Amino acid sequence: MKVNITETVLRDANQSLIATRATYSDFSEILETMDRAGYYSVECWGGATFDSCLRYLNEDPWERLRKIRDKLKNTKLQMLLRGQNILGYRHYSDEVVRKFVAHAAGGGMDIFRIFDALNDLRNIEVALDEVKKRKAHAQGTICYTVSPIHNLETYAKLGKQLEEMGVDSICVKDMAGIMSPKEAYDVVKALTESVKLPVFVHTHSTTGLGPMTYLKAVEAGCAGIDCAISSFSGGTSQPSTETLDYTLKQYGYDTGLKTEVLKEINDYFKPIKQKYIESGLMDPYVMGTETDALIYQVPGGMLSNLVSQLKAQNAIDKLDDVLKEVPAVRKDLGYPPLVTPMSQMVGVQAATNVLLGERYKTVSKEVKAYLRGEYGTAPGEINSDLMKKVLGDEKPIEGRFAESLEPEFEKTKKELGNLAKSDEDVLSYIAFPQIAEKFLKNREESKAVTVTYSIVKKEG
Ligand code: CO
Repeated sequence: MKVNITETVLRDANQSLIATRATYSDFSEILETMDRAGYYSVECWGGATFDSCLRYLNEDPWERLRKIRDKLKNTKLQMLLRGQNILGYRHYSDEVVRKFVAHAAGGGMDIFRIFDALNDLRNIEVALDEVKKRKAHAQGTICYTVSPIHNLETYAKLGKQLEEMGVDSICVKDMAGIMSPKEAYDVVKALTESVKLPVFVHTHSTTGLGPMTYLKAVEAGCAGIDCAISSFSGGTSQPSTETLDYTLKQYGYDTGLKTEVLKEINDYFKPIKQKYIESGLMDPYVMGTETDALIYQVPGGMLSNLVSQLKAQNAIDKLDDVLKEVPAVRKDLGYPPLVTPMSQMVGVQAATNVLLGERYKTVSKEVKAYLRGEYGTAPGEINSDLMKKVLGDEKPIEGRFAESLEPEFEKTKKELGNLAKSDEDVLSYIAFPQIAEKFLKNREESKAVTVTYSIVKKEG
């Protein structure tokens, strides 16, 4: 039986271990080798890469995509898309979502993994429709979480809904690395029994469960898993590609991978890893195993955020109280999966409740927007007292929030004038206005410098 392996070193491993700081030149020379490895796909774009290219690396993310496409001629390129949030943190108008998908597909993207933090599938509908129109592969995603209202039936139902929406495959996304081998086996079984589509599993090694989780997922009939080349694997990253390849082949599965090519790829990335360890960007903390997440049922990233928030307020002695408050807040909010942006909202609210000694004395504007329904429908029931306290007589919206948003593409394009050289520049600006503006202005200036330089050279 075939098990498809997606390599994440360029995106999720890069994001999880070195805060998405790998530059194009860090990996450009190994792309052609990666093209020979036999990967099902290479996840190389989306998530935080877009933001990071513009914010820290002075790279045009669109150009990066085209350059990767040029060198990975035979391997499918894959990206992570936050549905109606595209790659940002707010909802964008439908027209912007469509244009973004169209340009990504035009730049060579093959597989779009699309998710919504609340599993509110209305928020992935438009992106999905555009992916299908562009004849690319639409992978519908289920964010995995553990709560009293999430069970196998919930996941099977979400799978069925995704199938009806016309996705090409389904991904169970365990962003926190808390899905156990048993849970993975049961969820994949429940899904493969209720839908006819291939089911992929995505996890992280954070709690140490990852490799076992993948093995059981495969035994339950999962079609593919996400792995990272070993020097960029483990800890908050994915389980190692070579380790899974070795294990699965012994059990007679066909991974399609060429072991000797994987070795070449890993040898290439070893010194890159060393460089980031020496620069301090790769913190030993992210490479270790963090089992506290299993006790508190909160993602590792959320836990470390809480610790630093409380330290900053000189209240680290309140950590236990806050960790006890997290499930209470989560329950009040209808059990949202603890993924961006919900993990931040729940964490900050729990800390506020504890530090002020009173529940919901103050509520962030994000939580207010959430209660108004601007992020979508909560998986479970929201506490009605909380609703009343925060919204008063205001009624939460019932439709899809994006429907209330004005088209913004043409307007923004006009505003940008000559600064935007392409529709892609406009999309970068809409996604991250301040940092894209800075990037575009820098580009303009460096062009001016290059032109003067070449004139001087000619004259000289
Ligand atoms: Co991930």
